[in-house]
Amino acid sequence: MRTRPLKVALLGCGVVGSEVARIMTTHADDLAARIGAPVELAGVAVRRPDKVREGIDPALVTTDATALVKRGDLDIVVEVIGGIEPARTLITTAFEHGASVVSANKALLAQDGAALHAAADEHGKDLYYEAAVAGAIPLIRPLRESLAGDKVNRVLGIVNGTTNFILDKMDTTGAGYQEALDEATALGYAEADPTADVEGFDAAAKAAILAGIAFHTRVRLDDVYREGMSEVTAADFASAKEMGCTIKLLAICERAGDGASVTARVHPAMIPLSHPLASVRGAYNAVFVESDASGQLMFYGPGAGGAPTASAVLGDLVAVGRNRISGTTGPGESAYAALPVSSMGEVVTRYHISLDVADKPGVLAQVATVFAEHGVSIDTVRQQGKDGEASLVVVTHRASDAALGGTVEALRNLDTVRGVASIMRVEGE
Ligand SMILES: NC(=O)c1ccc[n+]([C@@H]2O[C@H](COP(=O)([O-])OP(=O)(O)OC[C@H]3O[C@@H](n4cnc5c(N)ncnc54)[C@H](OP(=O)(O)O)[C@@H]3O)[C@@H](O)[C@H]2O)c1
Repeated sequence: MRTRPLKVALLGCGVVGSEVARIMTTHADDLAARIGAPVELAGVAVRRPDKVREGIDPALVTTDATALVKRGDLDIVVEVIGGIEPARTLITTAFEHGASVVSANKALLAQDGAALHAAADEHGKDLYYEAAVAGAIPLIRPLRESLAGDKVNRVLGIVNGTTNFILDKMDTTGAGYQEALDEATALGYAEADPTADVEGFDAAAKAAILAGIAFHTRVRLDDVYREGMSEVTAADFASAKEMGCTIKLLAICERAGDGASVTARVHPAMIPLSHPLASVRGAYNAVFVESDASGQLMFYGPGAGGAPTASAVLGDLVAVGRNRISGTTGPGESAYAALPVSSMGEVVTRYHISLDVADKPGVLAQVATVFAEHGVSIDTVRQQGKDGEASLVVVTHRASDAALGGTVEALRNLDTVRGVASIMRVEGE
């Protein structure tokens, strides 16, 4: 074993960073044996220097992250600050000053992954980010390395624990959205401002990263269609149950049509109870991957939390450390396929539509005509009437989102349609 230690700087020492530091200390001997050199914590950048940080030598703590990454003697910089700036500048500065980088920053990778990979390449350094998607679950490396010889066709994932907790509560207790969100907040699963989670921004960042790696194509955050789950109601769950389904917030990345393009989207969707993702409960994450040769694979586990996320960071630290010692770098960005990213209108799936309609003869025929005129074929229709009003639940065969959008617009213009109560995509069949 090499005796000269690998010097590691930690940018951020919060939920994830403090666990990275703890495991680096408590597992120091094992990490050294696995890497082939001891690992030394050379500095810890934080915002609040006076905060007591158990197990961290106060002499290592600094508020000057820029000076830390410019030291010039660092082997690996671990970025667990989060957000776009200063994380982006700190990472590029780290490359310029000779360090490789391990990051857990999904927002930054989804927005600027290509530029960061280019900076890493330019300086002959590694950029690893297993922790950026689904916390502890090994996903980036399996997609990037284990499946590098296969052709991935679809990645379907529950990649946000907060939203899965809320939807699972609604499903199992019959609670409404707000009640389930309040419980998630009280238990610490949801942040005081849950927007990033419930509106799907967090999942969209992960979808961009997964789609890029799975399809060897650059997919940016702006390419990902996003719909949150705050409009999902107890009535939607009741409808889902009648269809033998549940509702999940899904990140869906797939090859479109003949495989000449790709799509990436995040939205709530019904999935059959028989699908493996339907049984992912509480705050757990899972990602279902469909490939030509391997068939169906599922990756499951804790998608967040200090120690689980630190596990992924440390896995990267070991891989990057080994590369440093052998003087190599791991796989960089693979975007050679450069497939176009199609818009949401081109996505083809099934739909569950609830309409409030007048309870009189001929309404069903009128509604069916609108679907037919837009080329959307109906699979099943269920009608319930009471006191002159009725609800009509239509489940379609596969149709494009554009065709469904046109259908819904035309339905809204029918005198006999009082309102479109809900539209939910049906996935995983
Ligand atoms: N938490 C999770 O479960 C989880 C899961 C997967 C991925 N991630 C990702 O991991 C990253 C870190 O998340 P986290 O939950 O650990 O965040 P966090 O608890 O808020 O910690 C952020 C850390 O960064 C420090 N910091 C903030 N601004 C700084 C600056 N300008 N210069 C130096 N240090 C600064 C903070 O310092 P102070 O301690 O002084 O405030 C804190 O130590 C994010 O990219 C997040 O998306 C988190």
